[in-house]
Amino acid sequence: MRDRAFTPIETDRLRLRRFEPKDIGAFHAYRADERVALFQSWQDYTVEQARRFVEEMAKEDPGVPGVPFQFAVAELDHDLLIGDCMLTLDAADPPGAEIGFTVAPAHQGRGVATEAVRALLAYAFERQDVGTVRAVIDADNEPSIGVVEHLGFRLVGTMRTTFKGTPCDEHTYAISGTDRQVSAG
Ligand SMILES: CC(C)(COP(=O)(O)OP(=O)(O)OC[C@H]1O[C@@H](n2cnc3c(N)ncnc32)[C@H](O)[C@@H]1OP(=O)(O)O)[C@@H](O)C(=O)NCCC(=O)NCCS
Repeated sequence: MRDRAFTPIETDRLRLRRFEPKDIGAFHAYRADERVALFQSWQDYTVEQARRFVEEMAKEDPGVPGVPFQFAVAELDHDLLIGDCMLTLDAADPPGAEIGFTVAPAHQGRGVATEAVRALLAYAFERQDVGTVRAVIDADNEPSIGVVEHLGFRLVGTMRTTFKGTPCDEHTYAISGTDRQVSAG
C-alpha cells in the first residue's frame, strides 16, 4: 500500500531514507563505477541521469504495486549516501515483492548490504504485509548471493538468459515471512 507517510528506517549503522538532492554526487560516483555496473542494467551512468533519478524518486512513495521504490542508504552518523536498495511490490494478495541493492565500493565488505537488506525485509513483511520477497541475481554475482544466503533466502529457480549481450544464468532467490522468523530464531 502506498506509504505516503514513510519515515526513515534506522539500524545500528544506517539510515534508509528518501533520496535527496545532496545525494546526487555520491550516487553518480558509484553508479558510474564499472564494478558496480557489471551486473546492473545501466552502463556509463551520467550525472544528468543521477539528477533525473533523484527528481523522479522524490515523486514516488514506497509500496505502490508495480513501481520500484529506491531507498537511499546513508551512514547514520553523517547522513552521507553509501548505497541504495530497491523494493517493488506486485499486485497479488498478499503482495509479493522484488528487491535489489547496491553499496558503493569504498563501503563494501563490512556488512552494509546485509544490514540494509535486513531492515528492508522487516519493512516489507511488517509494514507492507508482503508474503514473499524475491531477488533475481546473476549466478556469477558472488557478493550478492552471499548477502541473500546470509539472510536466509532460498534458491527457487535458475533461468538461462542474455544480459548485456552475454548469455548467463540468473538465479531467483526467495524468502517468506515464515522463513525469516525461522532464520532469525
Ligand atoms: C552485492 C553488494 C551490494 C554487497 O555489498 P556489501 O556491503 O559488500 O555486502 P556485505 O558486506 O553485507 O557482505 C555480504 C556477504 O557477501 C560476502 N562477500 C562480500 N564480498 C564478496 C566477494 N567479493 N566475493 C564473495 N563473497 C563476498 C561476504 O563475505 C558476506 O557474507 P558473510 O556475511 O556470510 O560472510 C555489493 O558488492 C555491490 O554493490 N555490488 C554491485 C551491485 C550489485 O551487483 N548489486 C546486486 C544486484 S541484485
